[in-house]
Amino acid sequence: MDQNLWYKNAVFYEISVSAFKDSSGDGRGDLRGLAEKLDYLQKLGVDCVWLMPIYPSPLKDDGYDISDYYNVAKSFGGLDDLKFLVDNAHTRSIRVIMDLVMNHTSDEHPWFQSARADQNSLFHGYYVWSDTDKKYEEARIIFTDVESSNWTWDEKAGQYYWHRFYASQPDLNFDNPKVQDEMLNIARFWLDMGIDGFRVDAAPYLFERENTNCENLPETHAYLKKLRAFMDANYPGRILLCEANQWPEDVRPYFGDGDEFHMGFHFPIMPRIYMALKKGRVDDMLGILNRMPSIPDNCQWCTFLRNHDELTLEMVTPEERQWMWEQYAPELRMRLNQGIRRRLAPLLDNDRRKIELANSLLFTLPGSPIIYYGDEIGMGDNISLDDRNGVRTPMQWNASPNAGFTKSKPYVPLLEGEYSPEHVNVASQLADPNSLFNTIHRMITVHKEHLAFGWGDFEWLNVGTNAIAAYKRTYKGETMLILNNLSDKKQTTHLQKSKAVDAFTHEVVTLDTTTLQPYQYMWLILKD
Ligand code: NOJ
Repeated sequence: MDQNLWYKNAVFYEISVSAFKDSSGDGRGDLRGLAEKLDYLQKLGVDCVWLMPIYPSPLKDDGYDISDYYNVAKSFGGLDDLKFLVDNAHTRSIRVIMDLVMNHTSDEHPWFQSARADQNSLFHGYYVWSDTDKKYEEARIIFTDVESSNWTWDEKAGQYYWHRFYASQPDLNFDNPKVQDEMLNIARFWLDMGIDGFRVDAAPYLFERENTNCENLPETHAYLKKLRAFMDANYPGRILLCEANQWPEDVRPYFGDGDEFHMGFHFPIMPRIYMALKKGRVDDMLGILNRMPSIPDNCQWCTFLRNHDELTLEMVTPEERQWMWEQYAPELRMRLNQGIRRRLAPLLDNDRRKIELANSLLFTLPGSPIIYYGDEIGMGDNISLDDRNGVRTPMQWNASPNAGFTKSKPYVPLLEGEYSPEHVNVASQLADPNSLFNTIHRMITVHKEHLAFGWGDFEWLNVGTNAIAAYKRTYKGETMLILNNLSDKKQTTHLQKSKAVDAFTHEVVTLDTTTLQPYQYMWLILKD
């Protein structure tokens, strides 16, 4: 097997470094703290961690507003601590990728400061300026709760500047070759340090063109291909993971002919997993799976259930969005922009059966799964915190007053009630063979034992009821049969008579008319 294709069959884990583990005692997580927890990640079975932004930043968008691309914020520990983390991760065969925020900087970045102060500055052309706010009117607004325009008037410059996200995040001007080169230099800097690749933030928005929605433009793809060619030429085996929250036909081009992104988040399936679970029917999932174009062999989807943002409902119909809000965000403050700012466990009523079933789908559908930190122990959220902070609360390591996260006061409050560290924490789950942690650990183990999950073909099966998501994954003579009962009722499948082995227990099972309990899932190795 080509080792450079490691991501085809890997388990990923997303980390908010601020929220993971504090080693310095300032109440905020840091890279040394994270390094202390590598044994934990290794025990879980993680192959690659994705670090949310750790660059210097005024933190108006939790680090997605960068003020220096060539450094690590002091609060995280600095460059040496990143190197320490990466080296220690590598000795455990864990790779480390980080966010590359290409589309925009912070308005506090010296480039923007210089750009707005002086039209003749070299950096003025790093950004997108206009004398009118009537350009690119077809581009949608993404942070709809806060922004009413993608243009903001800048007094100093006497012009409007373009931004797809917060006004404090001016977009870089990729029409400027200097910006293009700068981004390659930034990539080189981190790759030379040993970083294994990037999760590329906001990939669709790099260029702007009149009479388009300014997303997925040919120019954007051309530049991303340039970045990929640069990686292939100099850093084979390092990866680019695409954040493109788009419909299937628009997300597919980000893989190019296997010469653009190695991986892309599977945005289309994610909300439909929640629809399927609530309706107890496969229809929405199946509809989108049938619409998914195939991707080149050297590419891979990255499947996810939750991440650090709101559960996005941008790529569903307005009716579906309304329905999802009613079902999963009955309180208005659970909603944000076009989405839902809640974590996995509360979304699924803290019902262990539903949480396991959602993970069963995550680990067996085509793609490499990514776990959002804390979801492996069923952490909750705090909807009274603003923006997306409610799903970014400190990792709960043990039942002690500060959850084992810090020795001082955490920078955001710990969860209370049902999801408090007393009830949900790593230490107690490690000690309990039946904990959610140990169940997810077993799923990861089985996932690794069978290359069919990462490499195999995918074939949907009709088993006589639309309450069961049933499919085969086949690779090099091995076929896995996966059954997921999405409903709260017992369901019986009508399968061809055959022998199988349960992938978890290794018990022999005879398949024929097989009954699944509410929300039960089965991962089987077919024998004939
Ligand atoms: C996508 C990131 O996931 C989100 O957290 C951020 O606010 C925007 N991009 C802007 O960088």
